[in-house]
Amino acid sequence: MPSPILISTKIAGFGLSSCLYNASGPLCSDADELHAIGISHAGAVLSKSATLQERQGNEEPRYVDTRWGSINSMGLPNQGYEFYARFSEQAKTYDKPYFMSVSGLSHDDNLHIIKEISGFENIAGIELNLSCPNVPGKPQTGYDFEQSRRLLEMVFTEVKQPLGVKLPPYFDMPHFEMMASVLNDFPISFVTCVNSIGNGLVVDPDLESVVIKPKHGFGGIGGDFIKPTALANVRQFYTLLDKSVSIIGCGGVKTGMDAFEHILCGASAVQIGTQFMREGTGCFERVANELTDIMRSKGYPDLESFRGKLKDI
Ligand code: SIN
Repeated sequence: MPSPILISTKIAGFGLSSCLYNASGPLCSDADELHAIGISHAGAVLSKSATLQERQGNEEPRYVDTRWGSINSMGLPNQGYEFYARFSEQAKTYDKPYFMSVSGLSHDDNLHIIKEISGFENIAGIELNLSCPNVPGKPQTGYDFEQSRRLLEMVFTEVKQPLGVKLPPYFDMPHFEMMASVLNDFPISFVTCVNSIGNGLVVDPDLESVVIKPKHGFGGIGGDFIKPTALANVRQFYTLLDKSVSIIGCGGVKTGMDAFEHILCGASAVQIGTQFMREGTGCFERVANELTDIMRSKGYPDLESFRGKLKDI
């Protein structure tokens, strides 16, 4: 009998039977979608980013899948934080942690939401979104190091659950270091690298037009296009942050090999966004099986046998 291959992991002190779960974004906005993740092979359930009030989001079309990935400018359509907080009651029936993504439109909104949800014991952790590129007129907080510090100072006075942040992708070495030095000053539980690459542009050459309506066609880029950027961010934050902080890889994960690469760079868990939107919840089982096969063929019994062990040449 071959020994079992384990892809279980721990985030924010909670055990996940699979290291694979959904990115906050696609198919996690309403109760049916969250339930589908709850009963799937995903290792956790993560909500759509919640704002103070319900939002319709940006005008359609606002999500387009291309051969190499996606462009979106959803604009945070969501049911408001109270809905996602209440959903934690239902989420406790799934045998996995429920994480709530929070993306207030101001520091005060974030503080208000975090104060209000602190009493919900079935919210295992909060993923504070510092990186939505799609709300017209609102900058991505994660690109402003002082504002990021200010926001973390505010929320850490109130938060009761473990808190992590979802970062935008960084591209310049000093920027990785600046953000890491902010994060290392707080008791952050996890860091999700990365959100979409903000404000890309996809062109339809036949129509000679943009492909999504909001923001003159500018939107967040996800999928295959962004895997090398995502891996670089996972690797840099794995290297620069305190070892108590779990890194969650997100970006360009379509196959077990993509997940393997994220873990090799240092990720403790891996989120799936664009591919989840294409394939639905079946992706969590398929990618898990592919990852398990790769680990078996390489002789790795669990994630810790290779996590972070990327070699230089
Ligand atoms: C959106 O709703 O616009 C996407 C969420 C995000 O990129 O954080």
